[in-house]
Amino acid sequence: MSGRARTVLILTGATGLVGRAVARRLAGTERTLVLAARRPATLEALVADLGPEARAHPVVCDVTRPPQVEALMDTARTLGTVAQWVHATGLEVAGDLDQGSVEAWREMLEVNLLSAATVGRAFAAACGRRGGTAVWIGSRRSSWASPGDAVYAASKAALSSLAASFRAEPFAARLRLTLLEPAVVAEGRGAVLRPDDVAAAVAWLLDLPRAVEVTLLRLRHPGDRRPRPPRPRA
Ligand SMILES: NC(=O)c1ccc[n+]([C@@H]2O[C@H](COP(=O)([O-])OP(=O)(O)OC[C@H]3O[C@@H](n4cnc5c(N)ncnc54)[C@H](OP(=O)(O)O)[C@@H]3O)[C@@H](O)[C@H]2O)c1
Repeated sequence: MSGRARTVLILTGATGLVGRAVARRLAGTERTLVLAARRPATLEALVADLGPEARAHPVVCDVTRPPQVEALMDTARTLGTVAQWVHATGLEVAGDLDQGSVEAWREMLEVNLLSAATVGRAFAAACGRRGGTAVWIGSRRSSWASPGDAVYAASKAALSSLAASFRAEPFAARLRLTLLEPAVVAEGRGAVLRPDDVAAAVAWLLDLPRAVEVTLLRLRHPGDRRPRPPRPRA
């Protein structure tokens, strides 16, 4: 590419179900992809799968470690103009509230919530005055309750609150941020979203005109129904 530096997109959680689909969808577009996750072998396998045309760079990064987040951003800066970020990092540890592990809850909050803040501020700094576009993958669980994964749901509700406050921060004034909340995502059949469906929505968001900011996008499969609470017995 001559003259202009290439747009760099950072994809955190690149090796997950959703992240892989987003990487495949964006590979071959006019972007350099910085693919981040913790496990090097899985990252390398993804890069190999995407092929050389994808211009994908693996970066090992634990998003709960601020120095690693800074190093991720430094690497991204060396590759072109940092302008886009998709946050598909996530952790869901199911378990009833009366029995769950406090350590697991803490880790979920770090991965699902705090990482958006630490990567977010580093991303805003990397974009600088040019601004940029971010998509955070939340969950429909942000707004409804059911037993079995209360802290996961709470982490997604808090992510929604964080997104609103993030937009209000002066340092983020030049960023567009979408919270994308899918219902259940799975490969195969059934009334669920496919990873490619989520990736298509991400690609659409990234390509919207710069003057348009979608703040919240909820995705569901038309056949999907929220489970009803059990009827009280007479
Ligand atoms: N799957 C669903 O049904 C569904 C539905 C609604 C919303 N979502 C949300 O969509 C997002 C992606 O979900 P998914 O199903 O693709 O999850 P996943 O398959 O479990 O993938 C999680 C990704 O996050 C990375 N990761 C986890 N902890 C990390 C850490 N501390 N530092 C850096 N990377 C870390 C994992 O790679 P490493 O382990 O190698 O680090 C992996 O790339 C999550 O936010 C999830 O809550 C998922």
